[in-house]
Amino acid sequence: MIVDRNEYRQRREQIMEKIGSGTAIFRSAPIAVMHNDVEYIYRQDSDFFYLTGFNEPEAVAVIAPHHPEHRFILFVQPKDPAMETWTGYRYGVEGAKEVFGADEAYSIAEIDEKLPQYLEKADRIYYHLGRDRAFNEKILSHYQRLIATYPRRGTGPVAIEDTNSIVHPMRQIKSHSELEMLRKATAISAAAHNRAREFAKIGRYEYQIEAEIEHTFRVEGGIGAAYPSIVASGSNACILHYVENNRQLQDNDLLLIDAGCSYGYYNGDITRTFPVNGKFTPEQKILYEIVLEAQLKAIEAVKPGNPYNQFHDTAVRVIVEGLMDLGLLLGDIEEIIKEEKYKPFYMHRTGHWLGLDVHDVGAYKCGEEAWQTLQPGHVLTVEPGIYVACDIKPVEGQPEVPEKWRGIGIRIEDDVLVTPDGNEVLTAAVPKAIADLES
Ligand code: GLY
Ligand code: MN
Ligand code: MN
Repeated sequence: MIVDRNEYRQRREQIMEKIGSGTAIFRSAPIAVMHNDVEYIYRQDSDFFYLTGFNEPEAVAVIAPHHPEHRFILFVQPKDPAMETWTGYRYGVEGAKEVFGADEAYSIAEIDEKLPQYLEKADRIYYHLGRDRAFNEKILSHYQRLIATYPRRGTGPVAIEDTNSIVHPMRQIKSHSELEMLRKATAISAAAHNRAREFAKIGRYEYQIEAEIEHTFRVEGGIGAAYPSIVASGSNACILHYVENNRQLQDNDLLLIDAGCSYGYYNGDITRTFPVNGKFTPEQKILYEIVLEAQLKAIEAVKPGNPYNQFHDTAVRVIVEGLMDLGLLLGDIEEIIKEEKYKPFYMHRTGHWLGLDVHDVGAYKCGEEAWQTLQPGHVLTVEPGIYVACDIKPVEGQPEVPEKWRGIGIRIEDDVLVTPDGNEVLTAAVPKAIADLES
């Protein structure tokens, strides 16, 4: 399952329309070092991949719609049989043209010599100042030279604009083929959670459950974990990004698993929390019911036309009401919400965009006050939680938390597509109803 090459071309054409007489430059992701001379498996920069489908390091993509012959140019690592024996196949300059549709391609070693011809007549450079500082310097020095010589040439870029504002709104609305990739990523993620739930038993270690999850990711053709899997038993569930995964599961533990598969660079992101021994304690069940209601109501608020914050605000209200009913929060509900007095129990937002990045790109707000309006094709997570850390410190004026609630952490997270009529939960295959989690 891959995105059709024509789709990459169509995306570049959309960029061309937006930048008019400008030139856009995209840099591949740097190679990440694991230790000494061992590298992590290469992961292309998401914008670069979105526009090219090209998955090699040391590359630069240039989109220059005003150029008379070359509107899409790739700089790549040249073919080198000796190197390829060590590090794998390269498409090379010819492959960049034949397979990836570049009008012209060069070795990356030629960038300083060949790039200026695509900048000299552009009215703007579009470039994101990224993590590769040396490459940023290169672009800035080309720009400075062109600015300095502008009076004599009478043409050239007069500004650098970030590419985020042109590419990220496109990435926010998922195409049909992107949704297919997301469906596959979320289906594998769901299968992994279901396998993990079967496997989780008293006496097993969190890392053994992590291994079961990641086994499914790979066996089903995924690249691997989209982020370090969180397998958090007992009070570890109160640590939001717990990744040590080294505790042995105990009787009466809840187990919180937050894990998602990356498939073809698209990501799933699912959290489930369930009792290891098949039976919630009374306190666990009460808090779980609140989180589940918050999540279900929040999902109902995911529909076209609703402002982005609505599902978060919905979840917060359900959680606050629930905690007030238990006497864990006291006072006026509106004041508790406005002054965020619930934050010792619920300290994160209820979701994020999901796509090529787990925390995907795109604006949540347009201006200080106005939230993005949900539209068909948006994909986001809905992931409320309640975390009662063993040493929880309520805000001033709020009651101490009785011992019986402490050490319980719960999050429920699904991946949700906004559809013309409402939404579709892409991760519905993983049960979350209490009846399905108890045995
Ligand atoms: N697993 C990261 C998140 O849920 O946002
Ligand atoms: Mn997650
Ligand atoms: Mn998430």
